[in-house]
Amino acid sequence: MNTDLIQSEISDGILTLRINRPDKKNALNMAMYQALADGLKSADSNDTVRVIMICGGEDCFTSGNDLTDFLSAPPTGPESPVMQFLMAISEARKPIVAAVNGLAVGVGVTMLLHCDLAYVGNGATFQMPFVNLGLCPEAGSTLLLPRIMGHQRAAELLLLGEVFTADKAYSLGIITKICPDKDVFATARNRALQLAVQPAAALRLAKDLLKRDYAPQLRETIVEEGKQFVARLKSPEAAEALQAFMQRRKPDFSKFS
Ligand code: COA
Repeated sequence: MNTDLIQSEISDGILTLRINRPDKKNALNMAMYQALADGLKSADSNDTVRVIMICGGEDCFTSGNDLTDFLSAPPTGPESPVMQFLMAISEARKPIVAAVNGLAVGVGVTMLLHCDLAYVGNGATFQMPFVNLGLCPEAGSTLLLPRIMGHQRAAELLLLGEVFTADKAYSLGIITKICPDKDVFATARNRALQLAVQPAAALRLAKDLLKRDYAPQLRETIVEEGKQFVARLKSPEAAEALQAFMQRRKPDFSKFS
């Protein structure tokens, strides 16, 4: 699946994957997930790539999964592009650096949990509205968020699905550093350049050891969340939420129990 909505470039040992669909707030469709998954997988076997960088645009990282795809081309199982992407990013052996400006919604937040360094603009906002959409959290977030911040703070983010600021993301421990918006890409790129000249095998080993105690459980959680997510897409609650988004109205869940 080829798409120019993900721009990919290798320079100075860094593979940069740029999400580029500004007219849809960088919503990720199937072809984009596949391109991201392919890029991440190819980085692992390409010796010229020492670091991976993921970024979006100046005012939007990504608004998450394309909601129209949820209706017209929902993910069906482990081979779906979204699951390939989640497995590739969560099991990547090389370091991943994220540069985040503007909106980060849904998988735009949960993918950061798999990045090693995440540089974020002071105007960025975050939201994980999975429950609000009648769905369930994904990308291993039900394991990783409580591990990072404890159950109560993770539950607040996931059960209420409210928008939160870069300051809150930093204080909760899910990003590395807040920068002025205009400096985010340069800061992330400089850090990636620093990583690119570190000894590659030692870097890979350190990353592997950092994740060693929870890696098997992470894979299992991503698979279980994925199964539940696919089932939830067929629920009346999700149907109401998705229709409400298309019709630009508030959803009404009062008739479901
Ligand atoms: N999937 C599909 N299309 C999306 C999208 C998404 N996740 N996010 C934005 N878009 C589209 C809008 O439908 C709109 O398309 P149109 O111009 O053809 O009508 C365009 O992008 C601009 O979005 P708009 O809603 O007008 O911008 P906004 O600044 O008012 O709001 C968001 C931006 C991201 C807050 C809002 O679009 C939104 O809530 N999107 C859904 C986010 C979401 O729930 N993601 C999934 C998480 S699992």
